[in-house]
Amino acid sequence: MAVLITGIGELTTNDAELGKLRDAAVVVDGEVIAWVGSAADAPEADERIDVDGRAVLPGWVDSHTHLVFAGDRTAEFEARMAGKAYSAGGIAVTVNATRSASDEQLAANLRRHVDEAAKQGTTCLETKTGYGLNVEDEVRSARIAAEVADEVTFLGAHLVPPGADAESYVDLVCGDMLDAVAPLVRWADVFCETGAFDEAQSGRVLKAARERGLGLRVHGNQLGEGPGVRLAVELGAASVDHCTYLSEADVEALAASDTVATLLPACDLSTRQPLAPARRLLDAGATVALASNANPGSSYTTSMAFCVTTAVLQMRMTIDEAVWAATAGGARALRRDDVGFVRPGARADLQVLEAPSTTHLAYRPGVPLTAAVWRRGELLTSGFASKR
Ligand code: NIG
Repeated sequence: MAVLITGIGELTTNDAELGKLRDAAVVVDGEVIAWVGSAADAPEADERIDVDGRAVLPGWVDSHTHLVFAGDRTAEFEARMAGKAYSAGGIAVTVNATRSASDEQLAANLRRHVDEAAKQGTTCLETKTGYGLNVEDEVRSARIAAEVADEVTFLGAHLVPPGADAESYVDLVCGDMLDAVAPLVRWADVFCETGAFDEAQSGRVLKAARERGLGLRVHGNQLGEGPGVRLAVELGAASVDHCTYLSEADVEALAASDTVATLLPACDLSTRQPLAPARRLLDAGATVALASNANPGSSYTTSMAFCVTTAVLQMRMTIDEAVWAATAGGARALRRDDVGFVRPGARADLQVLEAPSTTHLAYRPGVPLTAAVWRRGELLTSGFASKR
């Protein structure tokens, strides 16, 4: 069935030729976008929805979350707000809770958070393993993630489990764990940071994953400058995520590469780090994505709108740069061109704002502006749905 969405006051397409359109319309046919153009030229369709001058843009593409987990870390957050520093060690608390949870509990928790994100406009979401840290729990995390998320990343190298020997654990990750998980995932990641995995260990994990045909991602430069960005670029990773502390050489390396710098502003705020240097990256010519990093420790939010607002108000990104980074930028970080765009052939993933333009995402900070969301052509939520 074809649906005509018309009366669009401002349409962000992210398509170089279509650009940003005023008084626009979109035809959704099944799961894909069939037509985009001026409302005056719109073809007939089976159903017509008039959005009455509201802004329409692609659904958010959240390319970095950790949502296969159980348990709660409110106490850690409270301690942090009282002045305690964030460290990688907190991950172990979630590992214990995750290992103790049933498959059903993990799946329900994941689905609850994905639904929460969808209601706020997220239509494509990556999530990771990384709270299992043994073969059995990493495999079940990947299996549960694959049932719900658009993209799944293996993060067995998230933390050396307490009590384990680091080199033996890396051997396990590079051997039996990768063998068991690789068929279930598209990506592999490593937390390359003081307190997690050093450069040599991270390189071993990434190369072992690449040998099994997985795409690479890296958690790098979150808590201080370090080798993460350099390693990611050298190994051709699709993205390096966090990028909070960057040397000039890191910025230049990213600008000269295809590796996307994925910035996680909600995490920077929640861990009381400085905000990542978005302006330096953009001015140097690097490709920047924004993601939520939704997880129970360092960034417990699914709100991509909050990330966009923060990027504009505090990281000096323009509205257009921030919206692009949270949609097409996330798609680039996931090496996809079927999401993050509103153009014929793209997946019909759209959001309508309760506002005439995307500027309102920063102009009205904290106001829930998601008025309607389509994912794969299905209307998930609508606060207005005027059908005429
Ligand atoms: O991206 N940095 C590593 N992993 C997560 C944090 C996970 C946690 O603290 O539970 C992150 O911030």
